Amino acid sequence: MTFVAGPVRVRVPATSANLGPGFDTLGLALDLRDELEAEVLPDGLVVEVTGYGAGEVPLDEDHLVLRAMRATFDRLGKQPTGLRLTCANVIPHARGLGSSSAAIVGGVWLARELVAGGRLLLDDAALLDLAAQLEGHPDNVAPALLGGFVISGQDADGAFWAVPAGVDPRIGAVVFIPPSPLSTEAARGLIPAAVPHADAAANAGRAALLVAALSGRPEELLRATEDRLHQDYRRPAMPTSLALVDALRADGVPAVVSGAGPTVLAFADGPGTAATDALLARCPDGWDARALVISSTGAVVVH
Ligand code: HSE
Repeated sequence: MTFVAGPVRVRVPATSANLGPGFDTLGLALDLRDELEAEVLPDGLVVEVTGYGAGEVPLDEDHLVLRAMRATFDRLGKQPTGLRLTCANVIPHARGLGSSSAAIVGGVWLARELVAGGRLLLDDAALLDLAAQLEGHPDNVAPALLGGFVISGQDADGAFWAVPAGVDPRIGAVVFIPPSPLSTEAARGLIPAAVPHADAAANAGRAALLVAALSGRPEELLRATEDRLHQDYRRPAMPTSLALVDALRADGVPAVVSGAGPTVLAFADGPGTAATDALLARCPDGWDARALVISSTGAVVVH
């Protein structure tokens, strides 16, 4: 196995998981991308971070991108003697927009690209499986890798799978990003081990409806984004986010908690429209609201 000469660069999208009823299984890619670059060196380790996380994340072997790279090199059979890694982060951290999945997907992708013939040694399915193992659930890493709207899960034998589904081009998103973070671990800790059968049944129906709504029935999005499995349980950790979801939904806007929160995502009709501008105007004080396109591409190499 040999490493390629010169740096490789990858851009990885933000993602929004769950989308209401699809806890741990539905997610989509948003056109907001971290850019990561890595190069094999004769020796040493250099990690540089700009943007979100600069001055906060570790710049050593504990860096999440680097951990994902190490796991991938292990899988490929050889670690490089030295590495340089540069991360230009534009995805906010710990807000429910898939920053950790972007880091993991960026890491596995970079490592594979740094190995000559890496794509033959580790195919996309193996890369997804590795990324989902590192993240623990597949609903962010799958769209970060594949782009668009993706249904994902884990088989009884532990293998992760992902199936892309269609997104009507009329559908866009507005994200409302609060100033304070919420860790996914803390948000997951609020979910009970068991839920009433009626709630599970309601979510199964809504998740199925959401696949149809996103692929061409946007008028069904409000009903299709109802959730009974995670959002209310998490309300104590992000009351303002849930209040915004409630207020938007009361006005007929299909709004959900993005991933584990605390960002709120509202389905809209794309940047630049009057309806989207009206949604942006509902941004709470101190929050950041952005209209984003649903990105049909996942991680891409930049040449
Ligand atoms: N499905 C995960 C959760 C997404 O809600 O905990 C975390 O990004």
